Amino acid sequence: MTQDELKALVGRAALEQVVAGHLVGVGTGSTVNHFIDALATIKDRFPGAVSSSLASTERLRRHGIPVFEANEVESLPVYIDGADEIDHRGYAIKGGGAALTREKIVADLAERFICIADESKLVDVLGRYPLPVEVITMALPQVARRFKALGGTAIVRQGVVTDNGHPLLDVRGLVIDDPAAMEAEINQWPGVVTVGIFGRHRASACLLGTAAGVRTLVF
Ligand code: A5P
Repeated sequence: MTQDELKALVGRAALEQVVAGHLVGVGTGSTVNHFIDALATIKDRFPGAVSSSLASTERLRRHGIPVFEANEVESLPVYIDGADEIDHRGYAIKGGGAALTREKIVADLAERFICIADESKLVDVLGRYPLPVEVITMALPQVARRFKALGGTAIVRQGVVTDNGHPLLDVRGLVIDDPAAMEAEINQWPGVVTVGIFGRHRASACLLGTAAGVRTLVF
């Protein structure tokens, strides 16, 4: 199976996680796009979605799925999203698609974050994928210097601003063996809007697309 077929497999499998009669939190990315397309087939079973990006909102609306603003909602039973890397404890790197801030906001509303990913995303230690960090523009050089002190090399993602109007740094060379601690540290740095480590908001479970089918990891 191709990587895209594995993404489609878990996108469809995630339908079982949607709680009938309740809003569903929807992430961003190519795996989630498969989930959204599958979601359209059961759209009469739930009132709508809370979206984590303009791109997902547009796709949901094209399918006729109502989209609610995060600030209209107090809680969600489940948030379904992909990851750039996920480890064996459910910690993840996200933000490859630049949607990390809204993804973390919607994940924060949810009782459970179910990650959907092809098997290439499962790693022993986070950090080979460059860590995305959304930053206020005037803080970019100082935040980059702070990453250098941690052993990382931060570069500005060219030609990209987030849905919130900010630039992103991609940081290579970090070994993230304590994701929650590193997330907490980076969150303290002035100018950081969101770091793409999902530590406090780690996944509750991951549906992993493998050649042998969907493997469910529960954390
Ligand atoms: C979006 O900003 C990301 O967090 C995505 O969830 C992540 O990049 C996974 O994307 P794919 O499903 O396209 O691999």
